Amino acid sequence: MGTTVLQLFPTPGGSLPLEGLYLAHELHRKAEAEKPFVYSNFVASLDGRIALPAAHRTTRRVPPAIANPRDWRLYQELAAQADLLVTSGRYFRQLASGEAQDLLPIGKQERFADLHTWRRSQGLSAQPDIAILSASLEIPVQTLATHAERGVHVFTGEDADPEKRVALEAAGGRIHIAGPGHAAEGQQVVRALAAAGYRSIYVIAGPSVLFTLLQANVLNRLYLTFAHVLLAGRDFDTLTWGQELHPPQAMRLVSLFYDSQAPEGAGQLLSCYECLPR
Ligand SMILES: NC(=O)c1ccc[n+]([C@@H]2O[C@H](COP(=O)([O-])OP(=O)(O)OC[C@H]3O[C@@H](n4cnc5c(N)ncnc54)[C@H](OP(=O)(O)O)[C@@H]3O)[C@@H](O)[C@H]2O)c1
Repeated sequence: MGTTVLQLFPTPGGSLPLEGLYLAHELHRKAEAEKPFVYSNFVASLDGRIALPAAHRTTRRVPPAIANPRDWRLYQELAAQADLLVTSGRYFRQLASGEAQDLLPIGKQERFADLHTWRRSQGLSAQPDIAILSASLEIPVQTLATHAERGVHVFTGEDADPEKRVALEAAGGRIHIAGPGHAAEGQQVVRALAAAGYRSIYVIAGPSVLFTLLQANVLNRLYLTFAHVLLAGRDFDTLTWGQELHPPQAMRLVSLFYDSQAPEGAGQLLSCYECLPR
């Protein structure tokens, strides 16, 4: 993957190698005082689709028309800088049913070996720990065992099912009650993670987890790849959904790159935004 991307912002730009593009952001050094640095990442079509249904599947998936190895490399680079990944109950159910897109990063494939070396050189743990947001606690307990080498936190609400809590704790999960009702509240989640010592938090779930963090004003940065395709469809996921945000979340452009190589024949924009305080 030796080819370059074109920097469009900041100007003046120029050609830069794709590999290392986001590693250079040093997200593991951006935490301030007690506040961890929280960032997320999506790949979307130009009409804003991040997931669509597919034949023979019970859950939606990232459309193959937008998923591509170059964006995936950057996804892995972002994970390489994290000491914790935030995912959802949905991901662990998909993992159990064989519908998950992939294992949680950082990938063990040879092409990501440099990222493991880089992590070690930066004094980060071998793999990021995991936080699962789940209201239902419908998390197949056997999937926790497959992540036994990582610390696993589960965030839920006060009304969570006590039996499921006990079962998840017995399987090695650390349960945090982080809100009234069934859902976890974003500020409480990030505060608990900060207290546990996490400094760089990479959010790789979907629209309602992102909304939880936006509503709580705790997201620092969004990485967004726009694959230059239009997908339409009536049943889809987009970046975020929930009660309308008033005021809206303003996003300041940090960087923008043009990648002509993928998706094939179309290309993509690699954008990065800072969330301004609301
Ligand atoms: N294109 C991309 O870049 C991209 C990125 C991420 C995801 N996706 C796709 O988007 C689709 C949706 O992903 P997703 O299901 O992870 O999205 P999500 O809407 O963020 O997460 C859904 C699940 O997360 C839990 N959850 C969310 N907010 C919570 C809160 N405040 N408190 C407690 N639990 C909470 C719930 O789990 P329980 O049901 O267990 O209660 C909920 O069902 C998937 O198909 C995924 O592949 C695409």
